[in-house]
Amino acid sequence: MSRQKIIEAEEEGIMEEEKVEISASEETMKKAGLEDLPGVGAATAQKLKEAGFADTMAIAVASPGEIIEATGITEAIARKMINAARDSLEMGFESGDALLKRRERVIKFTTGSKAFDDLLGGGFETSSIVECFGEFGSGKTQIAHLLAVNCQKTDPTAVAVYIDTENTFRPERIIQFAKEQTWILTRCLRT
Ligand SMILES: Nc1ncnc2c1ncn2[C@@H]1O[C@H](COP(=O)(O)OP(=O)(O)OP(=O)(O)O)[C@@H](O)[C@H]1O
Ligand SMILES: [Mg+2]
Repeated sequence: MSRQKIIEAEEEGIMEEEKVEISASEETMKKAGLEDLPGVGAATAQKLKEAGFADTMAIAVASPGEIIEATGITEAIARKMINAARDSLEMGFESGDALLKRRERVIKFTTGSKAFDDLLGGGFETSSIVECFGEFGSGKTQIAHLLAVNCQKTDPTAVAVYIDTENTFRPERIIQFAKEQTWILTRCLRT
């Protein structure tokens, strides 16, 4: 970037800083386009578009450095712009310590096979979506049956919901997995 351009960019940054003071209301932000974000005037919006930032989502996932490089605005404005884009999209960004707290509530439950548990780092985790894939007859449906039983064994307050899209749910198989404990059998058959 030439010296002249840097000066222009800095000047624009100062001008844009003033616009931050009169940022759009929360309600407007919900449907924010690029130019509704604080710090984005027509010139900056054009620069952002030319650099490939087509919408608020692109801004929300960008780093301040990328925005600064594309537009030449100050870091403070770039950060405000990114935060406003994230707020407008209600993306649910979460700090590391909040995530850590949530992760403390995660329970691992066994598959019944130590080798399988080891592969999974201790078993299947709660609060997550797991996709099992494998060729026909490889045991995906068996795993689903087993997990429906074992999650309730691990946490007696848990309830398994089995959504059967292939009509392959077999209560008889649940009985086989659960039969060593009568109480779990009664609960699991209500699954
Ligand atoms: N009651 C049972 N006892 C022991 N093994 C069983 C029992 N029922 C099923 N199996 C084993 O599970 C295998 C089938 O696994 P499963 O139906 O879970 O496969 P899948 O991956 O879901 O297949 P598909 O892709 O066809 O749905 C069979 O090969 C069979 O050996
Ligand atoms: Mg299956």
